[in-house]
Amino acid sequence: MVRKKIVAGNWKMNKSYDEGIALVEQLLDELDMDKVGETHVIISPPSVLLQPITELLMFTPGIAVAAQNCHQEESGAYTGEISARMIKSIDADAVILGHSERREYFKEDDSLIAKKMKAVLANELMVIYCCGESFEERKTGNHIAVVEKQLRTALADFSTKDAENIIVAYEPVWAIGTGEVATVQQAGEMHTHIRKVLADIFGDTSQNMSILYGGSVKPDNAAELFAHPDIDGGLIGGASLKSNDFMSIIYALSK
Ligand code: PGA
Repeated sequence: MVRKKIVAGNWKMNKSYDEGIALVEQLLDELDMDKVGETHVIISPPSVLLQPITELLMFTPGIAVAAQNCHQEESGAYTGEISARMIKSIDADAVILGHSERREYFKEDDSLIAKKMKAVLANELMVIYCCGESFEERKTGNHIAVVEKQLRTALADFSTKDAENIIVAYEPVWAIGTGEVATVQQAGEMHTHIRKVLADIFGDTSQNMSILYGGSVKPDNAAELFAHPDIDGGLIGGASLKSNDFMSIIYALSK
């Protein structure tokens, strides 16, 4: 198995039903799949759009669909939540877990994220597991240790078989939505370290695991980041909401 190159668009809490459908239709019209080549594209819309977008993309195998979160239980009295089983039942492909906004606003920690990951993998979905340090943690020089601890806590109980379905996204919190992108050197250093930690946990399987960078990736900085050998693609927030920007970023990885 070779490492997949992946561009994932995280729409967060943006787009009404009509706006979301229009954005995907525009991508379907304009995205040149020959140019996309081996790059895997993932779209992660809000929950209400998961089913219609999965259906729209049914005949476009190069574009997968991910939920932005799920609950760790399969069903039950958890008002407002959706489960991995429900996400699987509409034929979506993946779930983003541990995004810094979930960690910050919804107080999710790595032991909860590990439970959610179990549920997602048990339903034969892929996981995009997000990790990353805060500005304070980088300023004090703790960034490498912080990210390593997140990875070791969240991934400790998973097998090499599970690892085949786990994508890691390194997203420094200070770069998310701020316009302040990590330099290639900062991102590259962390990605190389993440790969070492993954090798320690999963052995050779880690060589096949994709590690994405996220945090203010834009058309004008994507190519430089993606040129680093340990950066296998990007998790894109703001720029995934505009089809031209998202397509430019996909092409930057496909070169
Ligand atoms: P951004 O968000 O590209 O808007 O910085 C990235 C993310 O949160 O996944």
